[in-house]
Formats: sequence, structure tokens, C-alpha cells
Amino acid sequence: MSAGGAAVRCENLVRIFKTDEIEVVALQGLDLEIEAGEVMAIIGSSGSGKSTLLNVLGGLDRPSAGTVEVGGADLLKLGSQDLVRYRRETVGFVWQNSARNLVPYLTAAENVEVPMLLARRRRGRRARALDLLRQVGVDHRSRNRLTELSGGEQQRVAIAVALANEPPLLLADEPTGNVDSQTAHHLLRTFRQVNRDLGVTVVIVTHDRAVAQSVGRVVAIRDGRTSSEFIRRDGADGAGPHVARPALHMEEADSHREYVVIDRVGRLQIPRDHLHALSISGRDRVRVDLEDGGIVIRRAGDEAKAGHAGD
Ligand SMILES: Nc1ncnc2c1ncn2[C@@H]1O[C@H](COP(=O)(O)OP(=O)(O)OP(=O)(O)O)[C@@H](O)[C@H]1O
Ligand SMILES: [Mg+2]
Repeated sequence: MSAGGAAVRCENLVRIFKTDEIEVVALQGLDLEIEAGEVMAIIGSSGSGKSTLLNVLGGLDRPSAGTVEVGGADLLKLGSQDLVRYRRETVGFVWQNSARNLVPYLTAAENVEVPMLLARRRRGRRARALDLLRQVGVDHRSRNRLTELSGGEQQRVAIAVALANEPPLLLADEPTGNVDSQTAHHLLRTFRQVNRDLGVTVVIVTHDRAVAQSVGRVVAIRDGRTSSEFIRRDGADGAGPHVARPALHMEEADSHREYVVIDRVGRLQIPRDHLHALSISGRDRVRVDLEDGGIVIRRAGDEAKAGHAGD
């Protein structure tokens, strides 16, 4: 399958988990587009819905409402057979925990062959496995069992496993969560390299600032919705959406610029720091005025001070 079809489009994605008496709204109207061939990161605090989103994109979970398209295919319309094929051939998954990615008693090469066996690929499995292991830089460990590999090496093997059936989309949920920062750095280089060499679209969920810093675009999720995007300053941001202020929440303020995302119906999430700075809280009413080519938000009651009481 070609990598060109991997563009992702999520519209108004909702995922509600019902447990006994409570309902958790993990995704609440999330919009997201990912370009084919992009390497991007998703950040957000614990419980913000990152893994839920990745599971939906990976065909492992169905949203309660909304649209999700990958490579032009509407995931919600896929029957169970097609969904199995989708999970096997269209997406590759790398998890934080190597045990979830790999079979411990098989060798590295055998692990990479497993998805090819499941996809009933008859020929050239070993050669392809070795080729992939070379691409991710662990071909010298191809005959070692997983238990004999370091955490970083295991994650490289996991990337090779995820790529075994040439998926156009690679999803990684905290892939560097269990390794030291230097290993994380190397792993990230590997993600970028497979993106470059194979054209695979890469989506990485991370808490790691360094990981976020080294990709072109970072999407921040807050309360189950896309709140802002950080776009690398060197060139890529020319046609960007509505400008907020320079990044406040990421240390990489120098490399990326933060944009607040306005959704289809005009809603946006105002950065928490801005709200704190003006002592505006959840249900407060605010004034929104057009001023000098911008939109100014003021606490209700502050208009007089700002000289707008008379209008
Ligand atoms: N299977 C489930 N059943 C019930 N609630 C769930 C389920 N999966 C996730 N949730 C809830 O949905 C919300 C979002 O969870 P999610 O795992 O997507 O967060 P996350 O951003 O990946 O967090 P973390 O950074 O801790 O991994 C949380 O409140 C979580 O408790
Ligand atoms: Mg998670």
C-alpha cells in the first residue's frame, strides 16, 4: 500500500465510556487533520484523551459519535473483517510497554515476521524482517530473543514489527516512556528516519518535551478536544490559523509557535495561563470585542476601566 493515502481526518469525535453509574467523556468533539507523510506529536495531561484518540485511529476502539477517516476510508463504515485488515495492514502500533509490542521468547527477526504471517504473506518474510531491522538499526540483534535486548533495542524492534506490513500510518503511544533521554533521542531519530525513507505518516503521543520539540507540529489536547497547536517556526507556519501568543506551556517556545485552534463552529479553548492571569474562571462571563484587527477578551465588569462602558 502506498504511503500517500494516510491522511487522517477526525471531525467532532466523541468517545464516552460508561462504567456502572458514571460516564466519562474521553473525547468531546475533537477535530484533527494529519497530512500524509507528516511526523507529528500529541501532548496533553494525563486523562486528556490521547490514548483514546490513538485507539480510535488504530481501529481498536469505536468512537461514540463523529467521523474518522484514514486514507479516505471511513473507519466507522468498516465491517469487522475490513477492520481486522485495517489493523493489520493500514496502521502500525508502537506501545510504551515493549511486552505489548513483542513476543518475548521469539527472536527479533521472528517478531517482525509475526504480522506478516498473520497477513498471510508467503514469501520473503525473513529477508523483509532483516531489512526492517537494518532500517531501525538493530539488525545485529536479529537472532537474539527479546529478553536479551535492552529497552531501547526492544522499542526499535517494535517499530520494525509495526512496519512489517508496510502500513501508511504509524501510531506510537508514549514510545519513549520507559527509556532514558538519550535512548529516547535515538528512537525519535528512528521514527523520523522511517518517515523519510518509507514515507510513513507518524503520530507520537508523548509527555517528553524533547520528543515534542523535534517534530514539525505538536497538537495539544485538553479535556478531550484539540486546544492548541505548536508549529515549528522555520517556515512551516506561514499559512497557519489564528495566532495566539508565543508558546507559554512548552519550554520549546523558541522553536515552536503556539496557535489556538478554533473549531468548526467558532469555539476555542483559551490557554489556562491567560485565564489565570486575568482571574477568569470556568463559568465567568466575559466581553469579546473586535479591536485593532484583533479580538480582545475582558472580564465582565472590566469594560469601564478599559473605556468601553458607554457602548
Ligand atoms: N476503557 C475505559 N473505560 C472507562 N474509562 C476510560 C477507559 N479508557 C479511558 N477512560 C477514561 O477516559 C479518559 C481519557 O483517558 P486516556 O487513556 O485517553 O487518557 P490519556 O491522555 O492517554 O492519559 P495518560 O497520559 O495518563 O495516558 C480518562 O478519564 C480515562 O479514565
Ligand atoms: Mg495514555
